[in-house]
Amino acid sequence: MSAKVHVALGERAYDVVIGEGLLDRAGALVAPLLRRRRVVVVSDETVAAAHLDRLSAALDAEGIVCHALTLTPGEATKCWRELERVVEWLLAQKVERNDVVIALGGGVIGDLVGFAAAVLRRGVRFVQVPTSLLAQVDSSVGGKTGINSPAGKNLVGAFHQPALVLADIGVLDTLTERDFLAGYGEVVKYGLLGDADFFEWLETNAAAVRGRDRAALAHAVTRSVEMKAGIVVRDETEQGERALLNLGHTFCHALESATGYSSRLLHGEGVAIGCALAFELSSRLGLCPQEDPSRLRAHLKAMGMKTDLSDIPGELPSAETLLELMGQDKKVVDGAIRFILARGIGQAFVTSEVPPEMVLAVLGDALSGR
Ligand SMILES: NC(=O)c1ccc[n+]([C@@H]2O[C@H](COP(=O)([O-])OP(=O)(O)OC[C@H]3O[C@@H](n4cnc5c(N)ncnc54)[C@H](O)[C@@H]3O)[C@@H](O)[C@H]2O)c1
Repeated sequence: MSAKVHVALGERAYDVVIGEGLLDRAGALVAPLLRRRRVVVVSDETVAAAHLDRLSAALDAEGIVCHALTLTPGEATKCWRELERVVEWLLAQKVERNDVVIALGGGVIGDLVGFAAAVLRRGVRFVQVPTSLLAQVDSSVGGKTGINSPAGKNLVGAFHQPALVLADIGVLDTLTERDFLAGYGEVVKYGLLGDADFFEWLETNAAAVRGRDRAALAHAVTRSVEMKAGIVVRDETEQGERALLNLGHTFCHALESATGYSSRLLHGEGVAIGCALAFELSSRLGLCPQEDPSRLRAHLKAMGMKTDLSDIPGELPSAETLLELMGQDKKVVDGAIRFILARGIGQAFVTSEVPPEMVLAVLGDALSGR
């Protein structure tokens, strides 16, 4: 059983296929894209150890020759040095303009390899085989690719849509609990930003999703991808609506920066805490019902997720410093911080009109555990 979400972007349109056992069918699914029976795969060491053999066997079964490069896992790999390494390796493999590059891994591999494909010979096609929950519901869809610079995260990149996305639910079995829950932060975000029924479904099915029940996961991933695809189709290059996908991210980026982008706080964990703070702020501004922030926090806690600032180990800076860090977010326009707030669960909107005193009050209370 598999579901297909079509990302209707005209000549850049593609399908996201979601289901179990897709890795074993990858040869047959990728074959129609190929001009010659040859692909290159880039992965990370952890993912390659768990899943590369199956992918290679599936390609081999269709007579597709495959060469693979594996990189060190982790965010530090999304850098200039590794980009150069990947691009030079692709050139050494004699990848041609009509060939296909496969990115097998989480968001780090997807972003890095997608960017390498975007700049190689002015753009070659690539296939995303996302293996983390975050990559399946978010980073593999929508064409944002790139690397980090010493000046900040994701500051260098390109829009380059994949030619196909294969999200095999089964590969999520080998993901650590922490990485799985971090990815869930992005799943819950979709319900919060635009689909109250989906949020309610997640509340009802929290135990099944957390237990990685296949049917529950397939639904959660498919609904998330449908939402992301819909937004991307309406606003591919983030001139408007796509900014809604940043719900929770303004707070998250300040927290990631305050914790030095370390293992103290994973991106998806910061998104979940950021969503809770965005709803708290919305409620204090009288925009959303008072019970929404506590309803959200109760759900995050039921999932066993980091929910409050006190769930982040170690010291955090003051509310003033956090606000300053929010002002350094790359989404700041003309000096004004853009917030994604909500009029209720499933009703997010973008605004720059938020009194800084109110943000300080929310952060101050959150820091003192109130
Ligand atoms: N392009 C976008 O639109 C977009 C959106 C959101 C996030 N991102 C980027 O995505 C990155 C985060 O992605 P991520 O959380 O997937 O990080 P990641 O790629 O580092 O993966 C997290 C960890 O899980 C491991 N892993 C992945 N799949 C596994 C599997 N099936 N079994 C066992 N281990 C597995 C990886 O080796 C890694 O250690 C960040 O760099 C972020 O900027 C991009």
